[in-house]
Amino acid sequence: MAQGEGIAILGIYVADTAYLASRMPKIGETISGSGFTLGPGGKGSNQAVAAARAGAPVRFMSKIGNDPFGKMALEIYEQSGVTPELDVMDDMPTGAAFIFVNDTTGDNAIIVYPGAAGTISVEDVRARRDVIEGARVFVTQLEQPADAALEALRIARGAGVTTVFNPAPANPFDDACYGLSDYFVPNESEAAAIVGFEIETEDDARRAGADFLKRGVGTALITLGEKGVYIHSADISVLVPAISDAPVIDTSGAGDAFIGGFATALSEGRAVQDAVRFGCATAGIAVSRRGTAPAMPERADIDALLRRVGAMQ
Ligand code: RIB
Repeated sequence: MAQGEGIAILGIYVADTAYLASRMPKIGETISGSGFTLGPGGKGSNQAVAAARAGAPVRFMSKIGNDPFGKMALEIYEQSGVTPELDVMDDMPTGAAFIFVNDTTGDNAIIVYPGAAGTISVEDVRARRDVIEGARVFVTQLEQPADAALEALRIARGAGVTTVFNPAPANPFDDACYGLSDYFVPNESEAAAIVGFEIETEDDARRAGADFLKRGVGTALITLGEKGVYIHSADISVLVPAISDAPVIDTSGAGDAFIGGFATALSEGRAVQDAVRFGCATAGIAVSRRGTAPAMPERADIDALLRRVGAMQ
């Protein structure tokens, strides 16, 4: 059993440049947009902000550039209560993301350039070993190099820290990551890229979950957008429906909100189904607001939503 406290997250921070429009332009075409926001983003960083606002002590490990986008990271960590564990590089810029948000449905499409965070190495991870070993829950994704994610998962497992691996985006990673994942959390397209079939029904999600368990994961949590989250483990196989009582206006960062909320509830010792409900409520609020990290709700908002929908047992 880990003796640590709170959550350690390895991932990237980038500046999100988000464009609202009725559709994506075609190659060679210019279309008029209906809105624009610049704000903090990056999956790992969004997850850190979500977890801190949800009430967990959070340490976030990454690399940024010595530039105005990097300063935005420090501002959101200060506002949200995230403890930054950052290397600031003089010779690389902070990364950035292009985010298209459909102004009718809230659906999104993203191109991300990780910049300084794309240079996170195995040695960088080893230099923060104490941060990982001191946590109760460790979280990582695949926006930084996959070998850094693998090393961090190994360190966490070696210290008995509960591991949450979000294989996003769908980049290649070492098979050893499966066995190092207490919780393996792909969305439906990331899951499909691994198992080789589309995830359209609950039965598809169950089959994908069974595949992930054979590969060595402890519990698979497949996020299914507005349908909710499918939990599959040796003991349980069930869909937890999405939780929301407000209109969806921007789905970017929804998966990050779920993971931040889920990790927070796990770090408080909640059972998996309750932790998934808490993550679903976190995401349900985030998608009713614009942006990624700035849309992450405070603990009081999450608890209030769960009380309103009567979702906690
Ligand atoms: O998951 C959403 C995030 O993915 C955005 O904030 C963007 O930066 C990309 O990393």
